[in-house]
Amino acid sequence: MRTLITNIGELTTNDGPAGGRGADVLHDAAVLIDDGLIAWVGSADGAAALGASADEVVDAGGRAVIPGFVDSHSHLVFGGDRAAEFEARMAGQKYAAGGIRSTVAATRAATDDELRARLRGFLDEMLAQGTTTVEIKSGYGLDLETEERLVRLAAEVTPEVTFLGAHVVPAEYADRADEYVDLVTGPMLDACAPHSRWIDVFCETGAFTVAQSRRVLEAGIARGLAPRVHASQLGPGEGVQLAVELGAASIDHGTYLTDADVAALAASDTVLTLLPGVEFSTRQPYPDARRLIDAGITVALACDTNPGSSFTSSMPFCIAVAVRDMGMTPAEAVWAATAGGARALRRDDVGVIAPGYRADLVLLTAPTRIHLAYRPGVPLVARVWKDGVPVS
Ligand code: NIG
Ligand code: FE
Repeated sequence: MRTLITNIGELTTNDGPAGGRGADVLHDAAVLIDDGLIAWVGSADGAAALGASADEVVDAGGRAVIPGFVDSHSHLVFGGDRAAEFEARMAGQKYAAGGIRSTVAATRAATDDELRARLRGFLDEMLAQGTTTVEIKSGYGLDLETEERLVRLAAEVTPEVTFLGAHVVPAEYADRADEYVDLVTGPMLDACAPHSRWIDVFCETGAFTVAQSRRVLEAGIARGLAPRVHASQLGPGEGVQLAVELGAASIDHGTYLTDADVAALAASDTVLTLLPGVEFSTRQPYPDARRLIDAGITVALACDTNPGSSFTSSMPFCIAVAVRDMGMTPAEAVWAATAGGARALRRDDVGVIAPGYRADLVLLTAPTRIHLAYRPGVPLVARVWKDGVPVS
């Protein structure tokens, strides 16, 4: 199947210098999709001759096309929600890691089919908003059986599955955190590793210490999983340095980074994944992305969809906040939500519109990607292709 998308007013290719600061945009452009992959990118004039060989020609009508969003951080397999907790927070209550435990009870009580239906619903809403690649973490089971169910269900829908048994210490292990880490790094890891690509830990006051986090990550690495880390969400800590030392693909949150953290990240291959939905819905201060990018850090944006700290699944929303409140340019924010997410997942087949990449594209109801921040809250996704197939 060959599809030609032509008359694209603004095409964000990300096929240039990293970070959205380079020549990554073509005007009056066209893209040829062949068998699920990008086969050709060029000018609409140059595409005229290709039209004859295409099975379908799509006229973009001068609108903008961007790569499908790569959402590199989500927690989509869980039961219940925490709307009342959110309401209390908006009335002044502080966010704390312990809220995770109430979702654990609801998740353990849910059947596989209930969790699966919920998960598929989230994926549908994400696709409709332009997200074509998604990473999914476990972490609301916190016992062997439920964690295994969560990674198994996640693996039904994405290869980017993260084992996060070390999300928080469950109530039944209160005051026995090290024993819980024994379980996570032993039998639970044995059960979950076959379904997972990544190992993650919440390295934070109220969750796991840096020593416990090191144990979790090293055990996962020994089982062939690659590390990523939740850190510096609620205050400064040592999780960033640990992530860099262990060569993590990404450290996520980074709301409170020290100068030493910034220097370590800038000198590393570890991506910093910022999660604006968390600051939005916990009323924490937004990180200064301008300072972080200018320091040389590779920044990704993700939604962190979860029932506690960030229940949005909208990458356009995250882009709007990153531009409005974190000092990113629209070009940087779109790069971070596409190519940046791909870097955070160490993927070299998504996030870029260039020959050989997967044909994951979003046609916007807008002449330029700037509208993603300029028109917050407005559904601007006209059409989505995943692997060359129109899905929305
Ligand atoms: O990424 N930081 C830890 N985990 C989630 C929050 C989970 C929850 O509150 O349920 C996060 O923000
Ligand atoms: Fe998270």
